[in-house]
Amino acid sequence: MIRHIHLNQCDSTQDVLKEQLSTAASDDLVLVSCEQQTKGRGRGDHAWASMPGTLCFSLNLRPHPILSFTAIELAVILTDFFSLKGRELRLKWPNDLWAEDKKKCGGILVQGAQANFLAGIGINLFSDAEEFGGIYDHSVAVEKSRLAKDLADFIHEHRIPDPGVLREKWHRRCGHLNALVTITDGSEVTTGRFLGLGDFGEALVSQEGETVRSYNGSLRPV
Ligand code: BTN
Repeated sequence: MIRHIHLNQCDSTQDVLKEQLSTAASDDLVLVSCEQQTKGRGRGDHAWASMPGTLCFSLNLRPHPILSFTAIELAVILTDFFSLKGRELRLKWPNDLWAEDKKKCGGILVQGAQANFLAGIGINLFSDAEEFGGIYDHSVAVEKSRLAKDLADFIHEHRIPDPGVLREKWHRRCGHLNALVTITDGSEVTTGRFLGLGDFGEALVSQEGETVRSYNGSLRPV
């Protein structure tokens, strides 16, 4: 049974979750969600800006058997959840959610702590910003607390431990398989055809006849 804390406002649900877990039993499952997050963090040194229509939540979970697949697994589970609700989202490497217009509508931040990972998920339910996508239009009423709990339950109940199954599902949802892409990781830039995920979730890119592996960075379709 998950212990769910829903706040009106917080800096980052990741920090509140960490605080909660410091006094929890080792097998406790905790979910922290909020109406508004003021200092959200993204992957790397990025900030995560929340809009009024953004759902922000964090939960603890055991990592995927291949640790680096954990965020990828969460991305697939989230697309499965929304598919059951009639919304077909796409995935962009490594673990962004794309709305139907191929604009980012969600992101996942995973912070590892041995057997207990802290997964932070941000989803734009609605978006009025030109550069971001949203899952619903404003006519749909969504209760953030309820949706966060439904998503957390779904995640815990639909884990995908088999790496082969997971990669296959991810590839089916990928919005840029075989497309020309650029992956930027600091000063390193790889441009080529995106071939999918490697054994550890890394991006495989065909560049000048060679397969280049990128373990980090941001992907942009060319
Ligand atoms: C990314 O795409 O860079 C990952 C974004 C993750 C944002 C979520 S919102 C809930 C949780 N709390 C945070 O501070 N970040 C994550």
